[in-house]
Amino acid sequence: MYIIRKALHSDVDKILDVLNSVLLQNLPSKNNGFLTYNPGKRFYKKLIEIADFVYVVCYKKDIIGFLVAYPSSMLNPKDEIQKFLINHYKKEEFIYIFQLAVTPKYHRNGIGKKLYKQLFMDAKKIKKIVVTSAVPYNRASEKFNLILGFTKKGKILRSDGGSNFVYENIKNYIR
Ligand SMILES: CC(C)(COP(=O)(O)OP(=O)(O)OC[C@H]1O[C@@H](n2cnc3c(N)ncnc32)[C@H](O)[C@@H]1OP(=O)(O)O)[C@@H](O)C(=O)NCCC(=O)NCCS
Repeated sequence: MYIIRKALHSDVDKILDVLNSVLLQNLPSKNNGFLTYNPGKRFYKKLIEIADFVYVVCYKKDIIGFLVAYPSSMLNPKDEIQKFLINHYKKEEFIYIFQLAVTPKYHRNGIGKKLYKQLFMDAKKIKKIVVTSAVPYNRASEKFNLILGFTKKGKILRSDGGSNFVYENIKNYIR
């Protein structure tokens, strides 16, 4: 019933709808997590063209979730978090999860887990570990990542005074 497939250019508007439904500024509560940043239509279009790990979840002709990940070779050194990861992992290649989101109406139906499962399967094929990062006050994201096999590897202190946790999944493990 929920179908996961690689994202297409024509999915971008719907990806943005999902993103807007979980943007912190649009949410009444942080209980089910949030994203803080909309990188814009061009960013998603470009990534769909060049990255292998951009997936959507389809349900009844609608898109209700997405996951954007890309290889460490595509990390942006101008982004503070990504620069840290480049330096931390040095030459070890990995897949970086940039964003994961599910439309609130469909939360807690195993959709986020399915998206991770798909990514882990693809990462395993190319023998890469998966890394992600989230702000500590996204408690839902923390619980979700830990339950799905990620280990907290440390905390990045940002120049704006905030911080981000780094999560790593070396086994591409999922229960
Ligand atoms: C975090 C998010 C992606 C989870 O997606 P989901 O489809 O609801 O998650 P799943 O149903 O696959 O959850 C799998 C398990 O993760 C844990 N989990 C998921 N959401 C949780 C929450 N809000 N609080 C605590 N644990 C949570 C639970 O153990 C859950 O299993 P259970 O429902 O059987 O208890 C979704 O809430 C979301 O899009 N949040 C906004 C964006 C965000 O925070 N993104 C960062 C994600 S790392």
